[in-house]
Amino acid sequence: MTTWTPGSWRDKPILQVPAYPDPVALAEAERQLATFPPLVFAGEARDLKARLAAVARGEAFLLQGGDCAESFAEHGADHIRDFFRVFLQMAVVLTHGASKPVVKVGRVAGQFAKPRSADTEVIDGVELPSYRGDIINAIEFTENARQPDPDRMLQAYRQSAATLNLLRAFASGGYAELTRIHEWTVGFMKGSNWYPRYEEVARKIDDAITFMAALGLNPDNTPALRQTSFFTSHEALLLGYEEALTRRDSITNNWYATSGHMLWIGDRTRQPDGAHVEYFAGIHNPIGIKCGPSLSSEDLLRLLDRLNPTDEAGRITLICRFGAEKVHEHLPRLIDTVQRAGRTVVWCCDPMHGNTIKASTGYKTRPFDRVLSEVRSFFEVHREMGTYAGGVHIEMTGDDVTECVGGVSAVTEASLSDRYHTYCDPRLNASQALELAFLVAEEVHAQKPPRQHALAGE
Ligand code: PEP
Ligand code: CO
Repeated sequence: MTTWTPGSWRDKPILQVPAYPDPVALAEAERQLATFPPLVFAGEARDLKARLAAVARGEAFLLQGGDCAESFAEHGADHIRDFFRVFLQMAVVLTHGASKPVVKVGRVAGQFAKPRSADTEVIDGVELPSYRGDIINAIEFTENARQPDPDRMLQAYRQSAATLNLLRAFASGGYAELTRIHEWTVGFMKGSNWYPRYEEVARKIDDAITFMAALGLNPDNTPALRQTSFFTSHEALLLGYEEALTRRDSITNNWYATSGHMLWIGDRTRQPDGAHVEYFAGIHNPIGIKCGPSLSSEDLLRLLDRLNPTDEAGRITLICRFGAEKVHEHLPRLIDTVQRAGRTVVWCCDPMHGNTIKASTGYKTRPFDRVLSEVRSFFEVHREMGTYAGGVHIEMTGDDVTECVGGVSAVTEASLSDRYHTYCDPRLNASQALELAFLVAEEVHAQKPPRQHALAGE
């Protein structure tokens, strides 16, 4: 076995690589990126790993979510704030309903590169390279726009830095203070059926805050009331970008990806001998592995051996995305594999990516009832097997979009075209996201602590 370096992935078979027309320009952009400051710090990634270890023990719950693909066009402060507000609302509903700390991880500040099922797209007989996310090419269907451009990596880096800067300010600068819980409701949400239920939770939290204040605990002397911890994550697909931002931590001397706190491997790039797994093997961040129906039990074991040989708790989150009808077919065998091997993982449910369909109007959509149904089945299987359902991973936005059909706001196939803004997959709108949070809170609340897993070889 050769020694790992941030660039050792280059000698391995790789999928989903953009065809950059100018390798010299690509190398120059990567060289520049490598001179830029890290976006996150190793100590923060370790903090997140410790929190995820608590999730693995059944003591906390993971909420991960955000855009399918961030875009250069949608980078206003309002867009980021509205996302953060809805995310906080979901987190508060979960914390209150489940009576557990919620580990908050955004798909944000770096979620730009997209895997595609085909290298090219044909429209009206014209064939062009597929759109692979703003970090690689542009979405417009012209030859020029679809050409991969390495300078886009620099723009994605700068946008990530600015987004992260605002999110850090929101999380610690008073905006996330629990006494402001009523202000997190985005204007259009006031008409949502879920608004009264959210206000009821908010009122109960107000009462608790008043009670704590009487005891002398207030936002000035109790940081937990004043600020929140928020982490970033994205799919580490574009390895040249990730390599340039991989840095050695001065305290532990270990390598960390500094493009985000947590990175995950997509369902299309998790080949145990492939380039992406090679890259992930050497970084010390907490990582996710997307688990779709095609993941064999043998490959899952190989991935766990390669990516977490010491079985460090909090290192691996398995993000399951089978499709509502396939959860019962695949989840039990993967849980069984992990249990028999005596492995420690966080089990997380992505109810989005296995439930994408084409509406009769041509739009890619996700029926909200199938999203809810995958979540319910996920919890059901864990209940049956005595394991802990530790998190959800969703594609959502704070905007009032019409991309997923259903929910109490009743987006219909006919109304999909009203506000269909996504650059990639259909996202839950704010109202659907809150509705999901209430369901998940009930499921987590009803969950028992996990059974100790069987010893290896038993
Ligand atoms: C995604 O999370 O946007 C994605 C592409 O997921 P998956 O790899 O599970 O298909
Ligand atoms: Co997606």
